[in-house]
Amino acid sequence: MRLEGKIAIVTGGASGIGKATATLFRQEGALVIAADMAEGEDVVRADAGSEADVAGLVDRAVRDHGGLDIFFANAGVSGGLASIFEQSPEDWEKILRTNLIGPFLAIKHAAPALKARGGGSLICTASVAGIRAGAGGPAYSASKAGVINLVKVAATQLAGANIRVNAICPGLIETGMTRGIYDSARAAGKEEMIGHLNPMKRGGAPDEIARAALFLASDESSYVNGHALVVDGGLSASHPFYRQDYGRTSF
Ligand SMILES: NC(=O)c1ccc[n+]([C@@H]2O[C@H](COP(=O)([O-])OP(=O)(O)OC[C@H]3O[C@@H](n4cnc5c(N)ncnc54)[C@H](O)[C@@H]3O)[C@@H](O)[C@H]2O)c1
Repeated sequence: MRLEGKIAIVTGGASGIGKATATLFRQEGALVIAADMAEGEDVVRADAGSEADVAGLVDRAVRDHGGLDIFFANAGVSGGLASIFEQSPEDWEKILRTNLIGPFLAIKHAAPALKARGGGSLICTASVAGIRAGAGGPAYSASKAGVINLVKVAATQLAGANIRVNAICPGLIETGMTRGIYDSARAAGKEEMIGHLNPMKRGGAPDEIARAALFLASDESSYVNGHALVVDGGLSASHPFYRQDYGRTSF
């Protein structure tokens, strides 16, 4: 029960990483408000890119449950893999609204509530796409790079409030967002190619990210602040390079 007595908000809570995290946080004793644009079991409808909705979620936690300790700003959209030359400013506005303005709003509105409880943990989902090119479209990648910087800025600006602000950078995880990749690989009989550039030789499961979120939400990470935690099986540890005999050589 690593989150016993804690009140948490998780956005993107109807699917994938958010759903797995809401489930794990509840198992660990937290009261979780899972929020999403989509419907889901035990899910509150809210738009993570709307200031009124995010403020409303925090108000709800304080009013109905007496406070807020953890905000996992996780909702995100991929926007596809169109190139810079194929994307419009409207595409960028739509993607940045959820992926970057969403975490900004979460930090802005949750921090005062966390401070009133004597501290807390803010966690934002970034991506390996925010570290280097090749793991997402241009606006998606830029939004995630923005999240990595945002947690550093926020951690600094919240100095003295006992509020830690960190990001998680997942690699390839099987969720609603990556369903197309998994479905097409399986349909082509090439499931073993999923994650083949990764030293772990596989994609990840939502629960593997949820467990990183649990670490950052709990007191076990009490001195981790302004950090972007990569949880990608080693994908971003190397430049993309593939040799057929990797994994077959003896060592
Ligand atoms: N799946 C991966 O491989 C991967 C890798 C790196 C980062 N991520 C990030 O993980 C986070 C979670 O994505 P996922 O992989 O679980 O995908 P997912 O599609 O399964 O879940 C995302 C959820 O966010 C919700 N959502 C989208 N826009 C919203 C909004 N404006 N307000 C509220 N909810 C909204 C969706 O309805 C969906 O339920 C995202 O930020 C994504 O960018 C995913």
